[in-house]
Amino acid sequence: MRLIESINDIKAIIRSQKSMGKTIGLVPTMGYLHEGHMSLVNMSVQHNDFTVLSVFVNPTQFGPNEDFDRYPRDIERDIKMAEAAGVDVVFSPSVEEMYPDGYKTYVEVEDITKILCGRTRPGHFKGVTTVVNKLFNIVQPDRAYFGQKDAQQVVVINKMVKDLNMNVEIVTCPIVREEDGLAMSSRNVYLSTEERKSALILSKSLFEAQELIKNGENRKENILKYIVDRIKSEKGAQIDYVEIVNADTLDSIGEFLKGRVLIALAVKFGNTRLIDNAIVEV
Ligand code: PAJ
Repeated sequence: MRLIESINDIKAIIRSQKSMGKTIGLVPTMGYLHEGHMSLVNMSVQHNDFTVLSVFVNPTQFGPNEDFDRYPRDIERDIKMAEAAGVDVVFSPSVEEMYPDGYKTYVEVEDITKILCGRTRPGHFKGVTTVVNKLFNIVQPDRAYFGQKDAQQVVVINKMVKDLNMNVEIVTCPIVREEDGLAMSSRNVYLSTEERKSALILSKSLFEAQELIKNGENRKENILKYIVDRIKSEKGAQIDYVEIVNADTLDSIGEFLKGRVLIALAVKFGNTRLIDNAIVEV
C-alpha cells in the first residue's frame, strides 16, 4: 500500500491502473477512521480491483466557528487500518495541494443543501460537493462509497452526480453503530462520559419511533413530538432539528407518512453536534 500526497502522483497511478483495465473504487473520508469508514472500505475492496482511500480534513466544509482546527487526526493509525483492510492507496493531500493560493471554483447543489443540516451549517454542503467533485476528477473512480450516516450528504452527492452527468456509481452503505446503538463518528471522541451516555437517546428514540410506525402510527406530527420529547428528557441535549422528509429527494412530506421516509436529527451535547437518522418504508 502506498501513501500519496501529490495530485500529479495519484493521477499517474490511476492512469496506469486504468490502462490495465482495472476498476477503481474511491472512499472519501476525513480520517480518524472507525468501523463505519471501514465498512465502506471493505465494500470497495470487494467490488473493485483498486481502492483509493482519501483522508482529507476539508476546510471548505467547516464554518468559521466549527471544529476544523480541533478535528481529530491520526494519519499513522489510519494508514495501518487502511493497509490491513486491503486499500491500495491512501491519498492524503495537504490543504495547499487541494486549495492553492487563488483558488476560486466551487460546485453547489441548490435548495436541498439549505434544509436540515444546511440550515445551521450554511456553506457546508458547498464545501462537500466541491471537494468530492475534485476527488472524483483526480481519482476518476468507477464507484464511490458513502455512508447512510450522513443521509443528506448522500442525497446531495447523488443529485450532483445526476445533474452534472458524472461517470461514477455512488454506493451507499448502512450506518455502523456501537454495540449500544450510538452511530459511530469521528466526533464521538469529543463526548465526556456523561454526554456519551446521554447521546444514546438519539438512536433509542429513532428505534422507538420505528416501532411506533410499525405498530400503525403514521401521523408525522405525533412521531416528531415523540422523538423531541424523548430527546428533551435527556439532560444536556440541545436539539438542532428533528425532521421527517422524503428519503430520496428530501422533499417535505404531508401530514401522514408515505413511501420511503427519512427521520433525521441533529442534536448538540455540550459543544458536540451529533447526527443520526433512520429510513422507514411506510
Ligand atoms: P467523514 O465524516 O470522515 O465520513 C466519511 C464517510 O464515512 C462518509 O461517507 C460517511 O457517511 C461515512 N461514515 C461515517 N460514519 C459512519 C457510520 N457510523 N456508518 C457508516 N458510514 C459512516 O463525510 C465526510 O467525511 C466528508 O463530508 C467527505 C465526504 C469525506 C467530504 O469531505
